[in-house]
Amino acid sequence: MPVAVEIKSLREIERMRASCAMAAETLLLVGDKIRAGMTTEDINTIVHEDTIRRGARPSPLNYRGFPKSVCTSVNHVVCHGIPGPQVLKDGDIVNVDVTTLFEGFHGDTSATFYIGTPSPDARKVVEVARKALDLGMAEVKDGARLGDIGAAIQEYVEREGCSVVRDFVGHGIGKAFHEDPQVKHYGKRDTGARLRAGMIFTIEPMVNLGRFEVDVDPKDKWTVTTADGSLSAQFEHTILVTKGGFEVLTQRSRPLRASENVVTLLA
Ligand code: MF3
Ligand code: CO
Ligand code: CO
Repeated sequence: MPVAVEIKSLREIERMRASCAMAAETLLLVGDKIRAGMTTEDINTIVHEDTIRRGARPSPLNYRGFPKSVCTSVNHVVCHGIPGPQVLKDGDIVNVDVTTLFEGFHGDTSATFYIGTPSPDARKVVEVARKALDLGMAEVKDGARLGDIGAAIQEYVEREGCSVVRDFVGHGIGKAFHEDPQVKHYGKRDTGARLRAGMIFTIEPMVNLGRFEVDVDPKDKWTVTTADGSLSAQFEHTILVTKGGFEVLTQRSRPLRASENVVTLLA
């Protein structure tokens, strides 16, 4: 059975623009503040307080029992890291995944930050993940197919000698945090559901430096790590399909500190 993917109304699209813009602003604030010596709990506090100040709610909090307001995934943690006492140190990479619920609609975006000076391995996996998201988005337009997105990402990531996580995927988003369709970050061109203008979904490739297999922490049931212990990075945007292409609803109004500026600084 093909899944039914909502086509959002103009009113819903306007609401999504608002919640997505807030998530993007909160992620920018995290970039401004993040540094060595902070804990991941400190990031949670920044995200929680900024979200509430905007009159919004952090979608992760109590979502299927998730205990915090943001996901913070350090080094070999792939996704769904739970903020806590872990201190960020020079050379770490950390994905911060912000989801904002405002006036009934969710906006979802994440980025991986460099703490201090990255190792060559850290730069590699982070920059491959950043470009993987861009290449996936570039496939999006009315009439394209979901498999085109996955294929573009997988071809690039594997050509770079990295791997694409299979067990977690992008997703439709709107009044619910996770809706149809599932957006795989691997696959074959000319397969899968056809994209139509008015669909809204995330693309959020998780890229591992080593193999793609992952484990879920048996104690907390959330923290996902690479099975081989290799580094992992991720970027996520919420996008709207348009007739001629796409609109990045979580587009940032300026470059992201401790992420987008770093490789240029080092180059
Ligand atoms: N923000 C994640 C995503 O991109 C989902 C996190 S679920 C949570 O889909 F419960 F861990 F917050
Ligand atoms: Co998402
Ligand atoms: Co997310």
